[in-house]
Formats: sequence, C-alpha cells, structure tokens
Amino acid sequence: MIEGSINRRPRILLGITGSVAAVKGPKLALRLANEVNADVRVVLTRTVEHYFWKEGRAVSSYDAESWRDFSASTSTTTQIEVDSDDGDSSGSSKGRIFIHYAEEEWANYKNLQDTVLHIDLRNWADVCLIAPLSAHTLGKIANGLCDDLLTCCLRAWDFGQRFPTNGTINNNSRGKPVILAPAMNTAMWHHPLTDMQLKAIQKFADYGADGDNGGNAETGVIVIEPAVKTLACGEIGVGALADLDDIICEVKKCLMQIGRVDNLQATNYDVRHLEHD
Ligand SMILES: Cc1cc2nc3c(=O)[nH]c(=O)nc-3n(C[C@H](O)[C@H](O)[C@H](O)COP(=O)(O)O)c2cc1C
Repeated sequence: MIEGSINRRPRILLGITGSVAAVKGPKLALRLANEVNADVRVVLTRTVEHYFWKEGRAVSSYDAESWRDFSASTSTTTQIEVDSDDGDSSGSSKGRIFIHYAEEEWANYKNLQDTVLHIDLRNWADVCLIAPLSAHTLGKIANGLCDDLLTCCLRAWDFGQRFPTNGTINNNSRGKPVILAPAMNTAMWHHPLTDMQLKAIQKFADYGADGDNGGNAETGVIVIEPAVKTLACGEIGVGALADLDDIICEVKKCLMQIGRVDNLQATNYDVRHLEHD
C-alpha cells in the first residue's frame, strides 16, 4: 500500500510516446480523469508534441471531439504539490489533467534552488502508465537512457529499491507500479529486442526483492500486450495499442492493488475528504 490517505484522487503519470496510437492519448487521459477519477499528468515526448499532437495534425482529425474536450480541460501548470491536492477547490470528484512537455523542465529551471520537475513528478505519482509505448522509448527505458522528461521520470522511478544514504536506508516505499502498453509495427513487436527490453524493465521491480535492496514484484511492471489489427502502415498483425477499455481496467486493478481505490467500482470516493489529504 502506498503511504498517505486514500481520500485523495489517485494520481497517474501518463506517458504518451511517438507511436501513431498517440492520437488516442486525449481520449485515454479524459477517461482516466472522468472514469477513474484520477488526477492525470500527461508527459509527451518530442515526437508526439511536434508531429502527432500539433494542431491540425493527426490528433485533431482522428478524434476531434476528444481533442476539443482535452484541450479545454487541460492545464499546463508545473506547480506540483506532492503533499496536497494541488490546490483543487472545484469540489468535483472528476480528476484534473495537466500537460507537460519534453523540454519543460529546462525551460523553467533557472536557479540551483529550483525544484527538478522529473523528481517532483516521480514523487507525485501513484502509478505510471505509458500508452502508447513506442519501440524507441522502450529501448531508452530498458537501457537507462534519459534525455527527455518522461525517460528522466522512469530513470528516477521508485521501484522499491533501497540503498543507504546518510547512514540510513533511504526508502520505506514498496515501489510504485509501472504499466506499459506498447504499440508498434508487427515486425518491431516481434523483433527480439522487444521481448528482451520488456523483460529487462520487469526485472527492475524484482531487483533484490528477496534481499536487502527492496523491490516489489507484486505491483511492479505490468505489460498490456498490443492487439491484432490492420496497423496504420497497412500491415495486419500484432502491434496495435490495446483496447482503451483493457487499459482502463488494468489501471483500476492496479490502483486497487496498491490501496488507491477500494474496489473496481469504487472510484467515486467522497470529495469532501480531499481537504484532509
Ligand atoms: C507516421 C509514423 C508512425 C509511427 N508509428 C510508430 C508506432 O506505432 N510505434 C513505434 O514504436 N514507432 C512509430 N514510429 C516511429 C517513432 O515515431 C520514432 O521511433 C520516434 O523516434 C519515437 O520517439 P519517442 O519514443 O521519443 O516518442 C512512427 C513514425 C511515423 C513517421
């Protein structure tokens, strides 16, 4: 169970990467906010920001309604209150959506005393969901590369690993779950690296689970396999982003497992408790 009160909204860090399925990102974020009642911080890669999500590009023509609703309900604040509810006074049970860009932390970082956005995001989140996960970002995470906001969050992620710092063990956390929903061309999916890299990431959560290093295989890294479809490239095979219903269901199960929602239906918790969080 994650420490802290259950009586605040669940917090989801939603990474969206440069698969063509990024066009489903606005709908996914809205569903997480409206059906799971989660606060969602969307972190985009450069590819999504500059190609798939530019106004007038793929995203707005694919699902104009979700794009409009998403654009209307998203805020860009970088102010993150890890220990409170980010100053929400709306009284609504629905979650809020914030958006973050790949280079954002550099744009706002000026002095050594300034907070570091990827660390704040890591501390803020209960769960990280990356949907869609591209082959490129998969490879980066598996190999520890971190040249944008999303991969920095994952490189600094709390997988429950413990280490001594100032003479004491740093971490009482059991680790925070990561849910990965890859989407890519069939040949990319069947490339040996895909399996090797997914297994490498899953091992992050198992690391030292039976010893002194912490780690938590129980709520570790969950992979939602892609579906069989005619892909954007015209080929038929495995590689399409899993159905959004399946992704939502997996997120709810995960939040239930870590004690952030009581049961699969119980995402409409009482908003009056928010002020006590
Ligand atoms: C039209 C188009 C569609 C693409 N679709 C995918 C995809 O579904 N999955 C994938 O892994 N890469 C796909 N790519 C390649 C990625 O966009 C590319 O590898 C990019 O560097 C990913 O960067 P990111 O992971 O930082 O977002 C596509 C590229 C183009 C031009």
